[in-house]
Amino acid sequence: MKIAPSILSADFANLERDIVLVEKAGADYIHVDVMDGQFVPNITLGPNVVSAIRPVTKLPLDVHLMIMNPERYVEDFAKAGADFIVVHQESTLHLHRVLQMIRNAGVKAGVVINPATPVSAIKQVLKMVDLVLVMTVNPGFGGQAFIPECLAKIEELANLRNELGLTYEIEVDGGVVPETAKLCAQAGADVFVAGSYVYNSDAPKERIQALRDAIE
Ligand code: DX5
Ligand code: ZN
Repeated sequence: MKIAPSILSADFANLERDIVLVEKAGADYIHVDVMDGQFVPNITLGPNVVSAIRPVTKLPLDVHLMIMNPERYVEDFAKAGADFIVVHQESTLHLHRVLQMIRNAGVKAGVVINPATPVSAIKQVLKMVDLVLVMTVNPGFGGQAFIPECLAKIEELANLRNELGLTYEIEVDGGVVPETAKLCAQAGADVFVAGSYVYNSDAPKERIQALRDAIE
């Protein structure tokens, strides 16, 4: 089980401090939310911020692209030091090509589906990816409520992984707190993104431990 704190809820004026904090608290990945104001209503950060934070942590950077036509920026995020580049099925007409680009850049490839998108929409590309991200809120903002209807998709992806003999990790993102993390773990999730639960607290270390206790 892996915990991936989302720096969306960190203090952007103190990113280094907030990344080191969760690394020391036992985080497994650093989740980086990239938003363009088009695919989602919010705007966050770009490749320059990814390259700025690259040297401050040894943890893998899990870069979640919430941008239209992500093929335009795969190379930039790869050069910036992303370990995973995760693209939305809904954000491109050529998902297969984008995933090929990510792999050719030597980066782990991930695909993500919004709450309204069924698993069948990504079935054809499952063998190309290292990670499948199931959004458990509508992307764009931290601090939203978990959508329980998404749990069935986690289970479906876990079953497909078995049936097809694949090894992708199943990640969940949005509204993750100990209660919902437990449900996701029972459904088959392996990687848990948490933003506000970890960072909107005086004790992020205890929050990470509470998540771990709930899922292990
Ligand atoms: C939402 C982002 C999430 C966000 C989750 O669009 O993809 O990674 O940081 O925030 P919480 O954990 O607060 O729901
Ligand atoms: Zn995210």
